[in-house]
Amino acid sequence: MNLVVIGTGYVGLVTGVGFASLGNKVSFIDLDKNKIVKLQNKEIPIFEPGLEEHFQNEDTFSRMSFTSSYDDVKWDSTDVAFVCVQTPNNFETNSVDTRFLESAISEISQLDNSKIVVTVKSTIPPYEIEKVCKKVGMDKNEITFNPEFLREGTAIEDFFKPDRIVIGGNDPEKLTVLKELYKSFEAEVIETDPISSQLIKYLANTYLPLRLSFVNEAARLIDYSGGNQKDVLKGVGLDSRIGSHYFRPSPAWGGSCFPKDLIEVNNFYNDGAITLPLISNIIDSNIQQTTWTVEKLIKIFNENSLTSIVLIGAAFKEDTDDLRNSPTLDIYRMLEDKEIKTQIYDEMVELDSYDSIEDLNNIADKSLVALMYPVKKQLMEKIESVISKTGSILYTPW
Ligand SMILES: NC(=O)c1ccc[n+]([C@@H]2O[C@H](COP(=O)([O-])OP(=O)(O)OC[C@H]3O[C@@H](n4cnc5c(N)ncnc54)[C@H](O)[C@@H]3O)[C@@H](O)[C@H]2O)c1
Repeated sequence: MNLVVIGTGYVGLVTGVGFASLGNKVSFIDLDKNKIVKLQNKEIPIFEPGLEEHFQNEDTFSRMSFTSSYDDVKWDSTDVAFVCVQTPNNFETNSVDTRFLESAISEISQLDNSKIVVTVKSTIPPYEIEKVCKKVGMDKNEITFNPEFLREGTAIEDFFKPDRIVIGGNDPEKLTVLKELYKSFEAEVIETDPISSQLIKYLANTYLPLRLSFVNEAARLIDYSGGNQKDVLKGVGLDSRIGSHYFRPSPAWGGSCFPKDLIEVNNFYNDGAITLPLISNIIDSNIQQTTWTVEKLIKIFNENSLTSIVLIGAAFKEDTDDLRNSPTLDIYRMLEDKEIKTQIYDEMVELDSYDSIEDLNNIADKSLVALMYPVKKQLMEKIESVISKTGSILYTPW
């Protein structure tokens, strides 16, 4: 098929490159000219394991084109246009910022779009899409949804082997085109209405941080009670109704999706018609986890008369360079406010505005080295060697 991917971020690039490697022709549009120039030069602007190999494959690359102008695309022959632009939280209104989506939909609304299957991959409440469509003069029933569930760090694997494929819309013909596009995938396809398709996305992104917050609160309780964290969590997780997968304490959870999607879920019902006491407290639990982690680090730091704190891992999790809502950066700022010398070490992210160390050998004697997430064996061995050389102390939240 002929596909257009609007937005070449984590979702757009992985989706487009994935479909191109399956034999489809893909035109990428991004208003960020720097990204487009990089892509044209066969460079990937983000770090995502495995993406570069697929992207630079000669056959795949020959099926892709990149532009920052909507006019350059052959719209007449486009089958599906995936909208993959960001939908961040607008901190002033504390609700989803639809500007990027509005600009993309507005461009599409000016085309002869009746034959194009316009498919929103961005995470967005359907009532917000309705507002956007009304504003730019597009029929909301023309829009289909294909929410994205990829995890940064394993996005390529998630593209080729998704747990499920969700498609939502009101036009059966358009949904048939999407089913055809996905027909070689083994995953179950859930075909549903627009609202349900987005609720699947939002509720998945509610349950996951809920579970992470549960295990973080459990860790706090175990710490307070003097229990053995590993034994307790193993014992709880071995219950087959609970499971030990995705059940690891962390300094706090973060990332580009959970925080903003949870804020939006809370907006779903802010007319007061229903109350969701559990869901409405997940963010607060996470804020408390960040504070708890900082207090814990300070306690260890003071009790052992240490010289500095080194946070290992700048992003919100392993194998990504995405710094959006990274707990490490919050913890760094909170420790700095307490006037504790704090540094960040990250193997792949450049940290211009933070005190960072490029070489582990530069860790000062008697530091507190805190892992923000599990690291690969090789790095762990280096960290252990530096710790024993410098008389430092290692802290891991799990
Ligand atoms: N990152 C993830 O792990 C992930 C996972 C699942 C779902 N999502 C959702 O997918 C969407 C995209 O997320 P992302 O992380 O890929 O975002 P991103 O910020 O990495 O990329 C978005 C891209 O869209 C471009 N853009 C903005 N407006 C545009 C326009 N009008 N025309 C063309 N390009 C435009 C930006 O320049 C940027 O390159 C969001 O709604 C997000 O919630 C993200």
